[in-house]
Amino acid sequence: MKNFTSIEDINDLQSMIKTALQIKNNPLAEPNKGKGKTIGLVFLNSSLRTRLSSQIAAQNLGLNVLILNASQEAWNLEFADGAVMNGGTVEHVKDAVEVLNQYCDIIAVRCFAGMQNKEDDVNESILSQFLKYAKVPVISLESATRHPLQSFADCITITENWKENRKPKVVLTWAPHIKPIAHAVANSFTEWMQSMEVDFVIANPEGYDLDPKFVKNTTVFHDQNEALKDADFIYVKNWSSFEDYAAMPEVKENWMLTQEKLNATQNAKVMHCLPVRRNVELSDEVMDSENSIIYQQAKNRIFSAQTVFSEILDELP
Ligand code: CP
Repeated sequence: MKNFTSIEDINDLQSMIKTALQIKNNPLAEPNKGKGKTIGLVFLNSSLRTRLSSQIAAQNLGLNVLILNASQEAWNLEFADGAVMNGGTVEHVKDAVEVLNQYCDIIAVRCFAGMQNKEDDVNESILSQFLKYAKVPVISLESATRHPLQSFADCITITENWKENRKPKVVLTWAPHIKPIAHAVANSFTEWMQSMEVDFVIANPEGYDLDPKFVKNTTVFHDQNEALKDADFIYVKNWSSFEDYAAMPEVKENWMLTQEKLNATQNAKVMHCLPVRRNVELSDEVMDSENSIIYQQAKNRIFSAQTVFSEILDELP
């Protein structure tokens, strides 16, 4: 594995899940694997889980960890090629990444969608600059269109919670929110579910269909109750409109997942990447119910990251 920015960067998902579960069983089995190597975790946006789980994963492998909360602690970055930097930006991404190349053996970066310019976000205007200038492997800690470490953790979590001899039905359902949210988690979950042995469907209101590039031939329901029938796993997530980019078309029905809706499923397990707005996206009763595997998902972020870091270390000189 050279970089890790999407499912395209892995060879065999089932084998990766197996490795992750072995790592979970004994996370300190290779404490010196990363000895003498440094990973730089660069956050252009806020984080709790990604920041801490990546740090734990790297430390479990003996990696030296540099954390740069760039949005608060670093110089304001310029991303435009050829920019005359006589405004608010102080350091060009080219120079910043060239310097990170001097300090790090692996660069991991979080760079959310700006939600202002669809073309910039769809084309990964920030991640692409890191990939362009990095001379070491680059790992996405969530970019404009994908959150692969989260999706991998989600695959691990579904695998752990499914013992029956049939494919589980997995529903990605839209949930309400108070502000426009990016598509990265939903896109990425869709992409990874399409590579899992599951029956996967998406439920979202009219006007909220995801980018067709990610949906492909996955069935999309605009009726949540219809989609939730016989669900084994329900993944709750908000996203804004893709077509009318970052808009929030009015939704008249109540899409918040409640215990009543859960009762119509196959006692489905409930998932969410967190952070969650309680009683907006998910009711307290569902969030705190035995059906919730949300904290297990968060724990699995460690083993998702550790598996990826370990595979990247295998490729380093
Ligand atoms: N799920 C997730 O990525 O959480 P953070 O934004 O807190 O890292």
